[in-house]
Amino acid sequence: MYKIATLNKISPAGLSRFSDKYTLIDEPEKASGIIVRSQNMKDMEFSDELLAIARAGAGVNNIPVEKCAEEGIVVFNTPGANANAVKELVIAGMLLAARNIPSGIKWASSLTENISEAVEKGKSQFAGTEIAGKTLGVVGLGAIGVLVANAAQTLGMNVIGYDPFISIKSAHNLSNTIPVTEDAGELLAASDFVTLHVPATEDTTGMFDSRRFSQMKDGAVLLNFSRDKLVNEKALTEALAAGSLRYYVTDFPTAGIAGLDKVIMLPHLGASTKEAEDNCAMMAADQLMEYIEKGNVVNS
Ligand code: MLT
Repeated sequence: MYKIATLNKISPAGLSRFSDKYTLIDEPEKASGIIVRSQNMKDMEFSDELLAIARAGAGVNNIPVEKCAEEGIVVFNTPGANANAVKELVIAGMLLAARNIPSGIKWASSLTENISEAVEKGKSQFAGTEIAGKTLGVVGLGAIGVLVANAAQTLGMNVIGYDPFISIKSAHNLSNTIPVTEDAGELLAASDFVTLHVPATEDTTGMFDSRRFSQMKDGAVLLNFSRDKLVNEKALTEALAAGSLRYYVTDFPTAGIAGLDKVIMLPHLGASTKEAEDNCAMMAADQLMEYIEKGNVVNS
């Protein structure tokens, strides 16, 4: 019997895929396979029995991938399985900023008297912009970036893409409907909204620094539904204070910028839909069974 340990709450839709050759256990130190969502595994000791870890999500920052490689433990992620959920939240995030929705909600909820007069005032105080006809710069053209780009196009936006890891030719091949540039500065200068969809690696940590902020169009909005590490917090705070950045919309709560007027912060909800949780768990379970029983590495 193969033992599978689950860390975090993993969707039953995935766990029910394991055949009768498997048993689900609570102790990761006794497992042949582990499914994890966001729990930090960096200090965890692994047993000699452990063959593979499947991350039910895209990023693998919570897994010690180098240590796993040294110990011959295969690490899977579930690319694309939650991409639609993240795409929908990015579009929502863009609208939250464009229409000043969080501050409008806060203000409207505080009204107690003379409401119709106050509403007239609110109309001009919270007037926003439409996203149709504006330009969205998509940094990172993986599964999520391409879906966001396509959705933005259907909403009437102009889109420009850039990817620090893939060549312009491969980017064109991935989606010939998204104009791409090799020059991040060009994308930043042209975009009213910029959305980040690259993994957090040594190369991308702090990639959004004061130089990048200075290349952005005045009054642009930055959306980060990827990882907080991509953005240098000092440079971000300066851009917000200077007013050159209209809003920072992030899915990663950070104490240093919490409470700032022009920060819209969500509690890492990008992949938190039933559909995405089911998809990720099902893909992770299939990856583990395929590897444990047949030695096949399926990760796409
Ligand atoms: C991801 O990397 O895809 C997300 O962090 C998934 C999650 O929220 O668990």
